[in-house]
Amino acid sequence: MSDTDTAAEWVRMPANAGQGTICTAAQYEEHYARSLSDPDGFWAEQAGRLDWVQAPTAIADWSFDPVAIKWFEDGVLNICHNAVDRHVDAGRGDTVALIFEPDDPAGEVRRITYGQLKAEVVRMANALKKLGVAKGDRVTIYMPMVPEGAFAMLACARIGAIHSVIFGGFSPEAIAGRVEDCRSDWIVTADEGLRGGKRIPLKANVDAALGKVPAKGVLVLKHTGGEVAMRDGRDHWYHEFSQDVSGDCPCEPMKAEDPLFILYTSGSTGKPKGVLHTTGGYAVWTETTFRYVFDYRPGEIYWCTADIGWVTGHSYIVYGPLLNGATALMFEGVPNHPDHDRFWAVCEKHKVNIFYTAPTAIRALMREGDGHVTKHDLSSLRLLGSVGEPINPEAWRWYSDTVGKGAVPVIDTWWQTETGGVMITTLPGAHDMKPGSAGKPFFGICPQLVDNEGGVLEGATSGNLCITRSWPGQARTVYGDHERFVQTYFSTYKGKYFTGDGCRRDADEYYWITGRVDDVINVSGHRMGTAEVESALVLHPKVSEAAVVGYPHDIKGQGIYCYVTLMEGEEPSDDLAAELRQWVRKEIGPIATPDHLHFTPALPKTRSGKIMRRILRKIAENDFGALGDTSTLADPSVVESLIEGRQNR
Ligand code: WT7
Repeated sequence: MSDTDTAAEWVRMPANAGQGTICTAAQYEEHYARSLSDPDGFWAEQAGRLDWVQAPTAIADWSFDPVAIKWFEDGVLNICHNAVDRHVDAGRGDTVALIFEPDDPAGEVRRITYGQLKAEVVRMANALKKLGVAKGDRVTIYMPMVPEGAFAMLACARIGAIHSVIFGGFSPEAIAGRVEDCRSDWIVTADEGLRGGKRIPLKANVDAALGKVPAKGVLVLKHTGGEVAMRDGRDHWYHEFSQDVSGDCPCEPMKAEDPLFILYTSGSTGKPKGVLHTTGGYAVWTETTFRYVFDYRPGEIYWCTADIGWVTGHSYIVYGPLLNGATALMFEGVPNHPDHDRFWAVCEKHKVNIFYTAPTAIRALMREGDGHVTKHDLSSLRLLGSVGEPINPEAWRWYSDTVGKGAVPVIDTWWQTETGGVMITTLPGAHDMKPGSAGKPFFGICPQLVDNEGGVLEGATSGNLCITRSWPGQARTVYGDHERFVQTYFSTYKGKYFTGDGCRRDADEYYWITGRVDDVINVSGHRMGTAEVESALVLHPKVSEAAVVGYPHDIKGQGIYCYVTLMEGEEPSDDLAAELRQWVRKEIGPIATPDHLHFTPALPKTRSGKIMRRILRKIAENDFGALGDTSTLADPSVVESLIEGRQNR
């Protein structure tokens, strides 16, 4: 601990947190130094914990200019074998792999051992084969948070198919776009999902999507038993279709650089990108990060509250925990159903040791008062984690004090869909914490802060966060559009991976993520391209132009603020505002619902016609004093009318 200007921010590691941990402060320094001085040796050693059909001899082989990234290139392995069969083969078949806690607290808890997991994954894999899925094919998975979602992912990995999981909250339009983009002929879904007592029409959404794009086969899990339409020859009930499949399915030997999955994520421009992760590097990265970041100990119950539709669910519900032979809890529901104590009730019920959630959930639950927490016995908790957006110190302290009783470490893990796993975090047992700071780079990670011109900034400073060296879990490309990958991540600052985040580094070399510096916003930990919401709005016949920005929101972190100009002759009204909100929900999904609609006769533009978003952001933030230079505007009076419009709300 130093007595720099930030000394007041330190929170010491609880006294008992260091016992039996995997990594002390000195070991962190040693591993980190070695991961940079001898990356091949370091990563070959980490990779050695996995089973390889053929062990890699070539370890790191990458360049950021031109962009070509390879890890463990001559290695051959199967990640499903490593996540499932390896544990069964080692005599751990009776260890529980997944605990399923249903939406309804009175519903049936399922405990799936590694042995049962293997049988279930084999069944699903053979059903996919029977459907016609072959190695390299893309399979869309649009599932509720039930174990079958994980079975489907692992089944794809087992037979070498590439999974593309779509979050169950996305609309038919969004499904169609993603199915079309990666030309996925196969879909795995369920009749309905269940969240907070509400039914989500998953199969009906798939049907609507397949009205726009073709598919050869749909496997449907019977989950709620709700009525759904089944199309002959295309749709199959999973329980019927899989009845006669074999109980054997060998794991396909995969080259380390063979694709494992595609996951769509929003960027500052255009439609969502299909970020591609490959097999070997992702396996090593998620195995290693889970092991060190969560310091998992045999017998512990680990719970990550994310959905498998996001990268957090991929890496830290499915692959990371299972590669480590851990017991992971999978929760179907939401934090506030049937009451605001559900998270803590589940922690108590299953004696959860490691709990990993998002700041938006913490803030929402904090608002409901401490009583929901204190009425539960949370003494099993040993580690708390946060992910998805910057955590404000107030929420951090509540999480640490009220949930953790000040007795457990809190880790704030910064990473992205593109990074595959955790990049910056403190390690429990190794590092003291600072509320609001993610902390230190993980092994092999070289963060660098640069100014807008790309000049490297040294010491305690703020800038744009880049990563200068590759790491095993890095995304390799954008599916079907490598040029877009290069443009998006490696062209702003040539030769570096640009994260899109702003960041401060303090005198103790702790990193503080300050949020996106591009046109991406973070709404309840969900990443959203403002351009996507704009495209949805202008599809409406009454909308002429739209500009969307983020603004501070107490619970969601950022809310969606939409400036809308209407077609000639159309009048703004509350009804139209409600209609536009519905419209965006339908186009993208409920997570994209605008929080604020601001009708305006005009948008502030430069003389060359570029919308001045900087000004729109300030006005949305109610920050009228700091509008900066407005002299380049084609019509400066637009700004006054926008301010007036903002104040009248
Ligand atoms: C963006 C990535 C990481 C998996 C879930 C989100 C923001 C993420 C943190 C954190 C501050 C964070 C960043 C990043 N973010 N974690 N601990 N502190 N910001 O993955 O959807 O790819 O979003 O989420 O802005 O760029 P994603």
